[in-house]
Amino acid sequence: MPDWIPVAAASECLPGTSIERVAGDRMVAIANVDGTLHAIDGLCPHQGGPLGTGVLCGTTLTCPWHGWQFDVTTGRHRISAIVRQAVHEVCEREGTIFVRLAPAGAAAGEGGA
Ligand code: FES
Repeated sequence: MPDWIPVAAASECLPGTSIERVAGDRMVAIANVDGTLHAIDGLCPHQGGPLGTGVLCGTTLTCPWHGWQFDVTTGRHRISAIVRQAVHEVCEREGTIFVRLAPAGAAAGEGGA
């Protein structure tokens, strides 16, 4: 079981925003949807854009480079059923955000339809 990795202060990811952080050897996009944190792989599968620096609207995170959109609760691309980001566990404890990385096999496009 992977460890919980501290990645940010809770104050860095306020409701309605997302941030990009490195956790272990992975880029992670952390999104705060109305006070609930979500974390997905942060490297856009299109051309490697930084998803965490995109725009969050509801549960939809839009890549800042070319506009691919992902549901941060499921990691699924909003249009393509075969493109899917890994979803990581995330929590906040005593003002710090922690993530626990999904297995490497849960990478983009391997999550099924
Ligand atoms: S790199 Fe994300 S949409 Fe192109």
